[in-house]
Amino acid sequence: MTDLTQEHTAPPASDRVSELGFAPMDRMHAELDELLLRALAPGHPQWAQLLGDVHAHLKEHFEAEDRWMRDSGFPPRECHMDEHAAVLRSSEEVLALAQRGEFGPAPSFVAELARWFPAHADHLDSALAAWMCKRQYGGKPIVVHRAQRHGNGEGGMEQEAQGTERNRR
Ligand SMILES: [Fe+2]
Ligand SMILES: [Fe+2]
Repeated sequence: MTDLTQEHTAPPASDRVSELGFAPMDRMHAELDELLLRALAPGHPQWAQLLGDVHAHLKEHFEAEDRWMRDSGFPPRECHMDEHAAVLRSSEEVLALAQRGEFGPAPSFVAELARWFPAHADHLDSALAAWMCKRQYGGKPIVVHRAQRHGNGEGGMEQEAQGTERNRR
């Protein structure tokens, strides 16, 4: 039997949980992952600039997903759009404070955003990505996620099982 993981024609496995197989969404998710890496990097971020970039990104990202849901008649869209609106309100508030020189809430905001995003992508964006691919290509996307292994050897199986479950959708 051919081992497809060794074939150079096999698609690469993804390390990013936010990669869902719908290219326009994956590009936005990669951009948000990059911004969060910048925000969480050691050192002292330029908060006003960074929060401005994050807010501009979130606005564009959420507007695009909301538009796809509305235009395609995606059925369970209210809760997804409500989450976008709530995160955007928080981002707006934290950015407004930063523009007045108050950076106190900035670190906890980006930490919370980094905690929220993978779960949002997994629970809500994945359904939208599958819906959009089905409409455009007639089938659901398949993304192979590399199993996460933890340094202490624990949790690897759980992560692998989650990845396998996602691949069945
Ligand atoms: Fe998204
Ligand atoms: Fe979303």
